[in-house]
Amino acid sequence: MGRPVKPGWITAKTADINDLYERSVQCPESEVDLIIQAWDEIRHRQPNNIREDFCGTSAVAREWVGRNDTNTVVGVDLDEGVLNWAQNKIDSELTENQARRVSLIKQDVMHIDANRVDCVLAMNFSYYGFKRRSVLKQYFTSVHKSLVDDGLFLLDAYGGSDSFLEMDEERDLDGFTYVWDQHHVNPINGDVINYIHFEFPNGSKINKAFT
Ligand SMILES: C[S@@+](CC[C@H](N)C(=O)[O-])C[C@H]1O[C@@H](n2cnc3c(N)ncnc32)[C@H](O)[C@@H]1O
Repeated sequence: MGRPVKPGWITAKTADINDLYERSVQCPESEVDLIIQAWDEIRHRQPNNIREDFCGTSAVAREWVGRNDTNTVVGVDLDEGVLNWAQNKIDSELTENQARRVSLIKQDVMHIDANRVDCVLAMNFSYYGFKRRSVLKQYFTSVHKSLVDDGLFLLDAYGGSDSFLEMDEERDLDGFTYVWDQHHVNPINGDVINYIHFEFPNGSKINKAFT
């Protein structure tokens, strides 16, 4: 049985998992700082129009348009639910001018027909879902075609020896505990299955909030 809920406590019933995801996994301020730093070092100019593939809740897209009055961003994701959540956040938290400069597209990143951009982002290892070399190459080729001549594709890599251990890691955050569960590792082919679980002060849990 759970503990009594105190005023202000989040519980499994009241939690918004997209909000918890942003608060536990993402740091859009540092991500945008990194984009600016990479462009400074590699291209000696700043990008203006970017595309955030696998954009999920649009945290980085929102940060991007908040940085100045001209930045634009196209966010792409397959999941209608998370895109609706993102649009709601854009409408309620950005100024009209900022909101006008974010477009969300519900599409497979593999087949995007949009204007060329300075920079494409593929963060939090989302492209690791493309497990065959030919498919990954198809994605990389389509990103290349979407970039202006001096464009940059910025993406992160899943790695480090600990990434291939089956283990749990807990972090206590403001009002909830984030659990990163490296649940299954296949040492033969490098496949991993990881989950995010959330736990709350009244003892309730959301298991496998994200896989
Ligand atoms: C791990 S989340 C990444 C969220 C965010 N970019 C981040 O850095 O934390 C992965 C997102 O990619 C989306 N996704 C997975 N495969 C996709 C595809 N082929 N095309 C578009 N979106 C895809 C999922 O719906 C999910 O919202």
